[in-house]
Parts: sequence; C-alpha cells; structure tokens
Amino acid sequence: VELDPVDPGRMALLVEQLGRFGANAHGGVDRPVYSPAWRDAQDFVAETMAGVGLSVSRDQAGNVFGRLEGRSSDSVVLTGSHIDSVVDGGRYDGALGVLSGVAALETLVATGVAPSRPVEVVSLCEEEGSRFPGASYFGSRAILGLVGEEELTGLRDADGVTIEDAAREAGPDLRRLGECRRSDISCFVELHIEQGRRLQDAGAQIGVVQTIAGLKWLRVVVRGRTDHAGATRMEHRSDALQGAAEMVSAVDAAVRSRGGVSVATVGQLRVLPGAPNIVPGQVEFVVDFRDTTQQSVDALEADIRAACSSVAEGRGLEAELEVLRATPPLELDQRMRQTISAATAAVGVTTLDVDSGAGHDSQTIGRHVPTGMIFVPSRDGRSHSPAEYTSPQECAVGASVLAMTLWQLAWED
Ligand code: GLV
Ligand code: MN
Ligand code: MN
Repeated sequence: VELDPVDPGRMALLVEQLGRFGANAHGGVDRPVYSPAWRDAQDFVAETMAGVGLSVSRDQAGNVFGRLEGRSSDSVVLTGSHIDSVVDGGRYDGALGVLSGVAALETLVATGVAPSRPVEVVSLCEEEGSRFPGASYFGSRAILGLVGEEELTGLRDADGVTIEDAAREAGPDLRRLGECRRSDISCFVELHIEQGRRLQDAGAQIGVVQTIAGLKWLRVVVRGRTDHAGATRMEHRSDALQGAAEMVSAVDAAVRSRGGVSVATVGQLRVLPGAPNIVPGQVEFVVDFRDTTQQSVDALEADIRAACSSVAEGRGLEAELEVLRATPPLELDQRMRQTISAATAAVGVTTLDVDSGAGHDSQTIGRHVPTGMIFVPSRDGRSHSPAEYTSPQECAVGASVLAMTLWQLAWED
C-alpha cells in the first residue's frame, strides 16, 4: 500500500497547539496530572481525535481514547503515549506519541479502507510520576488493572492532596478505577522522542527500540543533629547535609567506575529543618539508577547502598535506605520490532537499533501484550527540559512510520 506521508506542517501545528497547555516562561511545559493545564490538554486531544473522525471515550483514570472501528475483530491495536510532563519539561516527551498516533490515524482514515481490527490511540495519564511520586505509569497500570487500592489515598502530591481528590477535581472518579480495565488489547506501539543523542550522532531517522532500561528509586534519609549555626564549634556537629553531600558524590563515583550504560542521578534533595542558621539535622534524597539488565540494576543498588553506609559510618550519622520504586528492564516483543523495521523499509528511512534509557508506559504494557517502540531523534539528546526539540520533518517521518506500522498490524494482519 502507498500511504500519504504525514505532512510536517501538520505535525508542527499539533505540537505547537498542545504545547500551549501549561506553557511556561522558559518555553517548556508544566502539565502535572489532573491540573487545569492537563485537563485542558486532554480536552484538546479529545477534540483533535474527534476532528480526524475517531470516536472518543474517556475512562475513570483520565485516559482519553480515539477509536477507529474494525471490520472483523474486536482485538484492538493500540498506540499512544502520555501528555503529563515533568516539572519544566519539554513539548515532545510523551506528547509527540499521542499526536503522532492521531496524525497517523488521520492518514489511515484518508485511505477510505476500514481496518480489519479496531485501532485506538490513547493519551495516558501520569506516566512521569511527577505530581505523585510512586504513581508512575498510573494510566497504563489502570488499563491493566495494576493500581493498588492503597494508592488512591496513599499517593499525595507536594501539597498533601491525595491522587483520588486531585482526580475528582479534574473529573475522573478513581473509586471506579476497576472499570478502566481492558482485556481486548492485542498489541501496543508507542512512538517517543529518543531523549538521547544516538540517532543524531548516527544520522539515523528512526530508532527501533530493543530493550527499555530497568530502574529503581532509592530514598535515603540521613539523620544527624540540629544545632546553632553560630554557637556550635565545627568539631561538635553532626551535620546531615555534609554527610549527604559526600554520599551524593560517592554514589556518582561508584557508578562512573562501573562504566557501561549504568546511570545514577540525585535530582531531589530536602534539607531539614532548612534554615541558614541551623545545622541541618536531617536530609532526604532520592537516587534514581538504571541499567538494561536486572543483574546490573541490582549490582548498582548494592554499590549505592555500600557507598551511603560507609559515609554514614565514617561521620557517625544514621542512614535509612528504602526502595520507593522498581521497574524491571524489558526486552520488547520481537515480532513487533520486525513489524516496525518492515514499516521503516516501506517508508524508506534510515534506522538504528537502540535501547531506551528512559522509562515508558510500554515497559508496563509490554509485560502483558506484545509491544514495540519507535524513536525519533532528539536534538542534542535534550529531554526533561524545555530544550526538547524534534524538527517537523523528523516528526512527520516518525508519524509516517507509525502509520505504516499500524497498517500492517490492523489492516493486513
Ligand atoms: C520517564 O520519563 C523517566 O524515564 O523518568
Ligand atoms: Mn519523561
Ligand atoms: Mn515519556
């Protein structure tokens, strides 16, 4: 089949329109789940889906679906991604996967041929866990029936609002989350920006994702003693922040010495009580660490724990370590990878097999149904930053490959 290529101008317009919701002064977006900006963005996505001829539905998690009916089967080919963002995030992370799904379906609808299997594009909620730490992949987990009852009241944002109350404010009733469960999904394909720089460096147009790295979040609480900042001699202090600072450096050094694709980040740190004239009595920070094999993730954890314990011991501080979150690595489905590769050949673009350092809803969904991921280049590898950029031409190539992939999965299969 010859599908019309997706128009770069169409992609540029969609990215620009969705990027208005939660736009901030740095050219980035702040779109935490269930916020007014997020709700307006989901409404925009729903209108855009309806505008290209899809039937729109929403579930009680807040996920939005656009559906194209199939002729001879109920088993759904699903595509999509998320529109929630990290704090001061970019306009492409997640958003591009949703918009590409809509644009791909627009092209497929234009063929005038109905698919044999139904095709849906979904805009998932709270992939990032940026408003509710620990809630990552909330929308996809809701679809799979993997949200625990205790999360509804246990997950709170920085202001102490529970996820259940935040959702109610935006519309969804999380008490009815059980209704989100889907058992009719046969496969999932997610387009996403690479968020790294291998495609750019290799001059490849499309990345065919092989493995998604596993990750853990380790929360470290360092306890020392509060004292007067002026009156307490240096040798009499038990300063939790000095210990934490040394731990942060030790973690970085330990991970660098492993080499390979291991990464670790301390991106959040809280100093208590948090005043210039009080020696810090307690510090809490989270180490995010990742690798593509479970064995390496576990080895990293052991190194990080050892580094923190040894600093605590040397300084006479207490350190309490707790795993907040663990997502195992996932090798994507081989047939889905082949289908995506065949689509890139049909469209005529250059490709590279790549792993994903970032986490994705595909990692959760891919444990239950065959899943594949398509990467498009990220300029200079920038992501989780307002600097995210993928050119309209690159976006259009990605959406065209997605359209061809969906054609193979839902029309030909
Ligand atoms: C999600 O973007 C993650 O990998 O942190
Ligand atoms: Mn992200
Ligand atoms: Mn993402």
